[in-house]
Amino acid sequence: MARWLVLVAVLLAGCVAPTADPARDGQGRITFVDSWDLSKRQIKQRVDEWNARAGRHEQVTYVPLPSPTDAYRAQLMARAQDLVGARGDYQAQCYDVMTLDVVWTAEFAEAGYLAPLTPAEFDVDRFLPAAVESSTTGDGRLWAVPWRADAGVLYYRSDLLSAAHEVSPPTWSDLERIAESLGPANGMAGYVGQLDRYEGLTVNALEAVWAHGGGPVPQWDSAEARAGIGALARGVEEGWIPRDALTYDESDSLREFAEGRAVFLRNWPYARALLEASPLKGRFGMAALPGPAALGGWNVAVSRCSKHQATARKFIRFLTGEDSQRALLEQAGYPPTLRALYREPALNARLPHLGVLRGALVTARNRPPTAHYDEVSRVVQGAVHASLRNPGSLDAELGQLTSDVTRALSGR
Ligand code: GLC
Repeated sequence: MARWLVLVAVLLAGCVAPTADPARDGQGRITFVDSWDLSKRQIKQRVDEWNARAGRHEQVTYVPLPSPTDAYRAQLMARAQDLVGARGDYQAQCYDVMTLDVVWTAEFAEAGYLAPLTPAEFDVDRFLPAAVESSTTGDGRLWAVPWRADAGVLYYRSDLLSAAHEVSPPTWSDLERIAESLGPANGMAGYVGQLDRYEGLTVNALEAVWAHGGGPVPQWDSAEARAGIGALARGVEEGWIPRDALTYDESDSLREFAEGRAVFLRNWPYARALLEASPLKGRFGMAALPGPAALGGWNVAVSRCSKHQATARKFIRFLTGEDSQRALLEQAGYPPTLRALYREPALNARLPHLGVLRGALVTARNRPPTAHYDEVSRVVQGAVHASLRNPGSLDAELGQLTSDVTRALSGR
């Protein structure tokens, strides 16, 4: 898959280098593609705001594509493939500005799909360092601007926990103990997360291993990995993690929690805004995970095939600017990537959970960057999902995973 992508991109780089439009000096109408908006149309509102202010020649067409992240990536790649055979009208098909999951930067950049950016133009020192790191390749080049940060957080039923004289669990063994007792006692699941076989599973697996003492770069054939994945497998075996959770993504797991069928939910911060608007309002809390969170999030990049790169960069400055990020935080719960917003007294007063977000982001870990990320993640998902379906195979699966990851990292 990764080699296919490189091939596509090399072809792309050759056949779709943009012809500048001298009359407009890189300015013109652009398309902006993002994964499906889970935020009650807040992303569209930002685009509408831009369009209301921008001139007729710099209007932005918003193209939301299906989420979750793997489905979105597949669509971007399909478009890349289409462009390979495209003739003169290829630029009409180019997505000028794209949001990229933080884990894709190296892959897209190495494939030649992105236009490099100048750090000074975007004043990148204002952003969270880990988010900037996720937009930068090993050679120090910047390929995207951090936009929406993300870090795994734990949602819990505050009503049930306080009735049982419990607090949000500081360690995974506390979480397990509470989930195991309060779940069955209330006729519900103890814990749900994203355990379907997709990128969400890689994230949940890493966090489980980190919560059991694993280092930032996972050693899959280790006691910590066996303990972390083993804890999830035990939950499924014992039933306090429902077997159905092996098919859950972010929205499925959120629905189970929101409809009162789980004591704990691992999800991203956006879920809080949706829960606040649900019947669970006032009966749930949000806390740090019992261990380091995975840093997630979305950065905005300019496509190499864009004919209107000046407008693309101007639009990115608007999207990632303070006003836009403040609105996305307040209206949709997306954590900002601009550091200053976490220190704004008025925001902290209105959003007391901002401290929890800041804490989770400061200790969050990036998934190990590689130009072959997709393939590496795929083999992790395969082994972890098999271990959760059949805990008896866990040792063999994790034993084999180290060599599978090494092979995937080398692009073979
Ligand atoms: C969220 C995160 C993203 C992650 C994905 C996994 O969208 O922001 O980084 O890869 O979830 O499902």
